[in-house]
Amino acid sequence: MANPTLKVDIPVPASKNSKAFTAALKVCLAAAAFDVPLQYSTAPSQTHVTLESPRDHHKQLIEANAIVRYFSRIGAKPWGRAGEEALKDYALIEYEESVLSSVLEKSADEALTLAESVIAKAGLGTEPPSPAEIIIFSTIYDIASTAKVDTHPALSAWFAKVVKTTWAKEGIEKVAVSTSVKPIKKSKGGPAPVVETAPREMTQKLREGIEMKVPKEGEKILPIPGQKNILITSALPYVNNVPHLGNIIGSVLSADAYARYCKARNHNTLFICGTDEYGTATETKALEEGCTPQELCDKYNILHAGIYQWFDIGFDYFGRTTTEEQTAIAQDIFLNLKKHGFLAEESVTQLYCEKHDGFLADRFVEGTCPKCGYDDARGDQCDKCGQLLDPAELINPRCKIDNHTPVLRDSLHTFLELDKLQPEIEAWSKKAAEEGQWSKNGRIITESWLKEGLKRRCITRDLKWGTPVPLPGYEKKVLYVWFDACIGYVSITANYTKDWEKWWKAGSDVKLYQFMGKDNVPFHTVVFPGSQLGTREGEWTMLHHLSTTEYLQYEGGKFSKSRGVGVFGNNAQDTGIPPSVWRYYLLSSRPETGDTQFVWKDFVTKNNSELLANLGNFVNRLIKFVNAKYAGVIPDYTKSMADPAFLPYKDAINALLLTFNEEMENVHIRAGLEKVMLISGEGNRFLQDNKLDNRLFNDHPEKAAAVVGYGLNLIYLLSSIVYPFMPATALSICEQLNAPLRTIPDTWAPEDLLPGHVIGKAAYLFSNIDEKKGEEWRDKYGGKQEVAAADDKKKEKKKGKKAAKQSKDKAEEPTTAEVEVRPTA
Ligand code: 2FM
Ligand code: ZN
Repeated sequence: MANPTLKVDIPVPASKNSKAFTAALKVCLAAAAFDVPLQYSTAPSQTHVTLESPRDHHKQLIEANAIVRYFSRIGAKPWGRAGEEALKDYALIEYEESVLSSVLEKSADEALTLAESVIAKAGLGTEPPSPAEIIIFSTIYDIASTAKVDTHPALSAWFAKVVKTTWAKEGIEKVAVSTSVKPIKKSKGGPAPVVETAPREMTQKLREGIEMKVPKEGEKILPIPGQKNILITSALPYVNNVPHLGNIIGSVLSADAYARYCKARNHNTLFICGTDEYGTATETKALEEGCTPQELCDKYNILHAGIYQWFDIGFDYFGRTTTEEQTAIAQDIFLNLKKHGFLAEESVTQLYCEKHDGFLADRFVEGTCPKCGYDDARGDQCDKCGQLLDPAELINPRCKIDNHTPVLRDSLHTFLELDKLQPEIEAWSKKAAEEGQWSKNGRIITESWLKEGLKRRCITRDLKWGTPVPLPGYEKKVLYVWFDACIGYVSITANYTKDWEKWWKAGSDVKLYQFMGKDNVPFHTVVFPGSQLGTREGEWTMLHHLSTTEYLQYEGGKFSKSRGVGVFGNNAQDTGIPPSVWRYYLLSSRPETGDTQFVWKDFVTKNNSELLANLGNFVNRLIKFVNAKYAGVIPDYTKSMADPAFLPYKDAINALLLTFNEEMENVHIRAGLEKVMLISGEGNRFLQDNKLDNRLFNDHPEKAAAVVGYGLNLIYLLSSIVYPFMPATALSICEQLNAPLRTIPDTWAPEDLLPGHVIGKAAYLFSNIDEKKGEEWRDKYGGKQEVAAADDKKKEKKKGKKAAKQSKDKAEEPTTAEVEVRPTA
């Protein structure tokens, strides 16, 4: 017997983006899918569907999900599953009711994220569809069109498949006819939403004087007398390797965030960096790669520059140390030091390999340990007993390059007499550390060097690849990289502008901010300042603020290129995750007070729950609303502006802005970023508390306009404070607001974007990252973690305590005359 026709009352929803529409769609789809003949009528005054079933004692159902399940049982083509399958489906429906629907009310992006993960696991797409499938499809029907294939692959594929099915086509058509979804009508005196028919005229109405200054193309940035002139350097990366995330956050990215902050405050700022190219490590690497050191440097300099460019590091100039300016400036400093009696010469006995005709750096000699008899000891240290060695002490020494037995040979070297300079260095560093608020580890490392007493350091080496020593008899020698490297900052500036002395011989008119990992500290706080002081040129610009980081570890271990552990510069690009997300993650985990960890799971969470759910949601929700309701034209928000209900938000935002500026002035980058996210959170709270929605728009147009004016101006403020951390995100926000980059103010008031200003189209700032992707990347970039960790442990054991303490200064070994291990922490 044919089923009797059931009667349904369908509501007349205002838009597809409403509960009434979703309910109607569920019922119409289920009727089509399970073949349930329906007699439709519309019920404009209700928001739910009402079903009356004559075949079941005129049973009434008003809950759409219950109706879908009912249809799946009684239809001519019932779903007909039982047992576990039915239970699973029921669990999915429960999920839609308790999680998905409520998340959707708050954030479309988040709902899409959830839907993506559910659909990827749920195995939907069977014929006939299950009740859960119809229910979820209806719930996300309106937002699914905004899902991007690359971020929501499962959802996109499934959705595209479903819309083509006969039941979906039939149901969607039915719901459109029955509900006649139309643009919202003007009601209760509210403003009619403007329907755009012609391209927008992008009128800009902005307060004057808020724009960030950008130097004109080709114009050199030079100090301006009487202004705050800031010179920023980030440690010059060794040219011979690819930087990993730890290197990037340690110097260039931290410096960039601070440089961008200064620029957003309209301070006159120059940010320079470049590759550190001289030294044994470069020569060795060139040998390995079968090219000349110069070729190697050319190749890696470009590689580094490319990686930093991808990370949006905005150097004003990225140079290198192998230049004529470097030779001229380093030799000048050297000769001045000599002139003023701070250099001494001494003959040093070193091991010399007659076979390859060269002196051997300590780590290029191996032999038997004189202390414990281990026969694979290195020239500087025995890996078995951990004792520090003088390479000349090794029994049966051999050249690591060709196994030849080296001989002892004298070689004349020049020493920088830091001991003589100690009182001056000490007085200067005390004052500078105080005035410049050096980071704690920077102070401690410097103090420990001074406390131990400065010793003279050999600043020449028997090498080819370096700055030539400007003295007769030193033709086969070069300057020691650690004497030379910091001079790189000066010579790189000289390559940027012939007026480099305006930056570097400016005394206190220029404030020098230097960023580096902790292993670089002594060369910036003792050796280089000592060299500057010893030249007796009183006007040197000297270190003002020192910003040092501890180490970023990778998933509980160390980054290792050879073992394939960790994310290196180029890997970050390969993931397809935009630079802003990487920057956010790294800056928010910046190892400021202790080592921190890179963890893939946190990376995904920070993207999804912080960037997307907080910042992305706030910006997107409001910009979309203004586009939909006001055709992008900022309404006159001034009438309700004095609403006392708004004041607490403004006060909270200004209190946060004040601490943000304080933190950033003190180069507390992580804390600064935290404040940004708190301000964004205030924006979300503001929209939520003031219930910016259709009802407010229709029933309280003046208040709606004020909320919009407040909110958009807050977004503009956010663009400025986001800029140091995520410049591309800031630019995208400004583009959506149709406004130029804004300076960071001291205090905020909603009066930058004025009534009548036309904003641009909404664009997503962030996309969801599937947790599975995070796991995939962890596997891909994890290397052989267990093996690596075990290896590391073995090594540490072998090296003993002293070795573990040793600084990275080992890229260029000291000569025998100055074997000393300095505490670095
Ligand atoms: O540790 C390093 O990567 C060094 N190349 C840093 C040098 S910083 C400065 F001295 F140039
Ligand atoms: Zn040799």
